[in-house]
Amino acid sequence: MYRTHTCGELRLEHKGNQTTLAGWVQTVRKFGAITFVDLRDRYGITQLLFGEAHTKQLDENPLGREFVLQATGIVNERSNKNPNLPTGDIEIIVSEFNILNKSAVPPFTIQDDTDGGDDLRMKYRYLDLRRNAVKKNLELRYAVNRAARNYLHTQGFMDIETPFLIKSTPEGARDFVVPSRMNGGQFYALPQSPQTFKQLLMVSGYDRYYQVVKCFRDEDLRADRQPEFTQIDCEMAFVEQEDILNMFEGMVKHIFKEVKNIDYTEAVPRMTWEDAMWQYGNDKPDIRFDMKLLNLKKPATVYTEKKDDAALINGADFKVFDEVETVLAISVPGCSEYSRKQTDELTEWVKRPQIGMKGLVFIKVNTDGSYKSSVDKFYSEEKLKAIAEAAHAQPGDLILILAGAEERTRKAISELRLEMAERLGLRKKDEYKLVWILDFPLFEYDEEGNRWVARHHPFTSPKPSQIETMIGNNPVIENAAEYLKHPYANIKANAYDMVLNGNEIGGGSIRIYQRELQEKMFAALGMNKEEQLHKFGFLLGAFEYGAPPHGGIAFGFDRLCAILGGSESIRDFIAFPKNNAGRDVMLDAPSTIDEKQLNELQIKLDLKN
Ligand code: AMO
Repeated sequence: MYRTHTCGELRLEHKGNQTTLAGWVQTVRKFGAITFVDLRDRYGITQLLFGEAHTKQLDENPLGREFVLQATGIVNERSNKNPNLPTGDIEIIVSEFNILNKSAVPPFTIQDDTDGGDDLRMKYRYLDLRRNAVKKNLELRYAVNRAARNYLHTQGFMDIETPFLIKSTPEGARDFVVPSRMNGGQFYALPQSPQTFKQLLMVSGYDRYYQVVKCFRDEDLRADRQPEFTQIDCEMAFVEQEDILNMFEGMVKHIFKEVKNIDYTEAVPRMTWEDAMWQYGNDKPDIRFDMKLLNLKKPATVYTEKKDDAALINGADFKVFDEVETVLAISVPGCSEYSRKQTDELTEWVKRPQIGMKGLVFIKVNTDGSYKSSVDKFYSEEKLKAIAEAAHAQPGDLILILAGAEERTRKAISELRLEMAERLGLRKKDEYKLVWILDFPLFEYDEEGNRWVARHHPFTSPKPSQIETMIGNNPVIENAAEYLKHPYANIKANAYDMVLNGNEIGGGSIRIYQRELQEKMFAALGMNKEEQLHKFGFLLGAFEYGAPPHGGIAFGFDRLCAILGGSESIRDFIAFPKNNAGRDVMLDAPSTIDEKQLNELQIKLDLKN
């Protein structure tokens, strides 16, 4: 037997017991004739005390960091206790030890505050994984996994695996493809999600399916995106949107309880996509704080139903506002006393290429009831007051205004909103606010191809009341500049996202389940009959054999873990992640393959660069 206990297990109550531990050497400290060694394993750290004889032995044959050591001895009460360690009251007086394996000097310290940079830690990820901080993340990941599975199991869901070598499933990214040796010149695609399979399972009668499953997408990477990531993928038959929202609100709340011991009892608020875009400037609003947008000019895009406050800025002859498409404002609480230096710095912030604005206008709503603005010249105190009121500004607030092209300005103000909240400490890591975003547009306009693409995916159903609009109108966009006037621009889908603290953690929809409607959908996306059959013949075929009404959702498992773990980066919660260039630096993958392999696949490379 290699060990009787783990390195995190022993306490004062074990005093006097004989124990054998095995683990990695964290530190070696020699004090005259005796030596202390901190021994580490997955469960913790225990101090070993080597007496005089053993210390002499160690002098001849020194222990190095990360050596694998087995030690037997008696549990002793420490005279110098360490309150920061669960095992800090005891130590082991070693009677016998055995070096199970040596270690090269590790390239960075295996500690919470390691001296290793990102690249180095990724190259030696197996060492990085020994660090407590990373281990905690993986433990949290496992806890989330367990909680989700338990919940879904008790709700009657069945875990069914679906294949990885498939035909393309469009989810908006590029496919990773795998050449087939047995079928020369043909390729499998790795699934961007199990979307069509879970729908087929509904046709097969497995009315509650789930899978914690890898998905593969060749897209530009960001902190919250990996080329291979994991979804908690779910589908249900005989359900309406309401059933799905309730079921999965329940799952996320269960995860909160199990993993974080948080009783998230209040109902998750629901917001339409239009409202989210209107009030927050994006479809994944962080609602931990207010600072809603004020639109000072009529917006150009689809969500035009709301009233605008154009009158507030019209007629002042201020060209910057008069000549742009959109003017958006937020009221930042308690910042009216920003100095010139601070407002200048904010102006520089919005001018950075990532934000891309030309400038920033501000109105200080002073606590004495007066107003001070960078556009005093154009706007009377009365006008400023009217704007402030419309923005729900309180005395002491700072109103920030951006003007420019619609889309860019909207993105910029939502970034600025987040930035200001960050600076004000309003994005608290231990506060969790969920929100459902509903009624997404069914289509999105693809400028490059001057055509419609599916906003979620092509299997998402339109709102029943708008099916006629979809079927009855020609999808062709005659005038690209006026695509917003096309009836398709206003069709909403039975699609929903779950957003947590400003992150999209899940998304799904009620599906189309009739062949005719699915064909119309494909046609709307510019697919002719032949193409439809080539790509989705299997699904259209299945819909002819009694497909039940169905719908589902998939959660970004990595993202959910990262947020619950208080991090922005999902990489920290994946055992073996890829870097921003999509490389596994430990494996040095992707890599070239042998001539022989290429020959077997009948592939000749003709690299352009
Ligand atoms: P969707 O494409 O919205 O839906 O994906 C669902 C959730 O997966 C997460 N996610 C990612 N996480 C990490 N890296 C990525 N590259 C990445 N891409 C997506 C997000 C997202 O909300 N088949 C549909 C689901 C359905 O309709 O049921 C789908 O995949 O958190």
